Amino acid sequence: MSPEAAASARFDGRVAFITGAGRGQGRSHALRLAELGADLALVDLGSAGSVSSPHYATATRDDLESVAGEIRSRGRRAVVVEADVRSAEQMAAAAATTVDELGRIDFVVANAGITDGFAPTWELSVENWKTMVDINLTGVFHTVRATIPHLLDEPEGRAVVLIGSGVAIKAVPNLSHYVAAKYGVRGLAAALAAELGPYGIRCNSIHPAGIDTEMTTAMVELNGIPRDVLLERFRSGQLIQTNVEPSDITAAVVWLLSEEARFVTGVELTVDAGESKK
Ligand SMILES: NC(=O)c1ccc[n+]([C@@H]2O[C@H](COP(=O)([O-])OP(=O)(O)OC[C@H]3O[C@@H](n4cnc5c(N)ncnc54)[C@H](O)[C@@H]3O)[C@@H](O)[C@H]2O)c1
Repeated sequence: MSPEAAASARFDGRVAFITGAGRGQGRSHALRLAELGADLALVDLGSAGSVSSPHYATATRDDLESVAGEIRSRGRRAVVVEADVRSAEQMAAAAATTVDELGRIDFVVANAGITDGFAPTWELSVENWKTMVDINLTGVFHTVRATIPHLLDEPEGRAVVLIGSGVAIKAVPNLSHYVAAKYGVRGLAAALAAELGPYGIRCNSIHPAGIDTEMTTAMVELNGIPRDVLLERFRSGQLIQTNVEPSDITAAVVWLLSEEARFVTGVELTVDAGESKK
């Protein structure tokens, strides 16, 4: 087999379950895993719900179908699931649909999340705090709670990646509900690594720098800050002052899911151009 063929067969026969797969980083992870041979369960909110506090535009059914179309055009299978990570029942149904249609779940990437406008903690709305924790932390719990029992069926070579944030390594002011939820994700990943280790299943968290996705659009709209100012703020907070791209996070996801990382578990991997070291 040529090196190219071997690379594209790296995840052959494997199934990855990704939340927030309709756009942004989740979309990038899904497309790359499909290029490397995986079949995909693409989970996103679509018409299963909406986010109102803060008012937030989430991915649509069309966004999900477009990712699914690109995966099928690469010769891989894709299942589209509209589900709200805030609902334990909907996430359980999403996992069951994946196993019914794709036969198994090998990899979980808990990636769905929102941001909010900047405000000091004592001025945050209680509703916005609750929504943030419900999606960015409890949503990750619902995701792993629904999927891990399916991983335990046949644990060899299976792995979980939780998407945190650079601000879960080095906190920033005026976004404390996001920071607190992401510190929670970091803790959940560490606890899961300890629980899953005896089964041979790995769990790691990734902590990206600021990245230009629809989440940046939300920050622009919620804060009234021009995009170029926000992106410059991201860059100037880094040791390497260049934009980090979704594909940079995807490379870390692929490595952590692969056999090359077979003894890597419980790691908090920053892909942040040195933001947390500055
Ligand atoms: N963009 C950044 O600057 C940045 C930096 C560090 C970490 N992150 C994290 O990376 C992850 C991906 O973010 P992104 O940059 O691709 O943003 P994005 O907004 O493009 O993607 C987030 C996805 O999550 C989905 N989602 C939101 N609420 C949901 C819900 N209740 N149920 C199901 N799906 C829901 C959205 O529809 C969207 O498709 C998030 O966890 C985010 O917190 C982003």
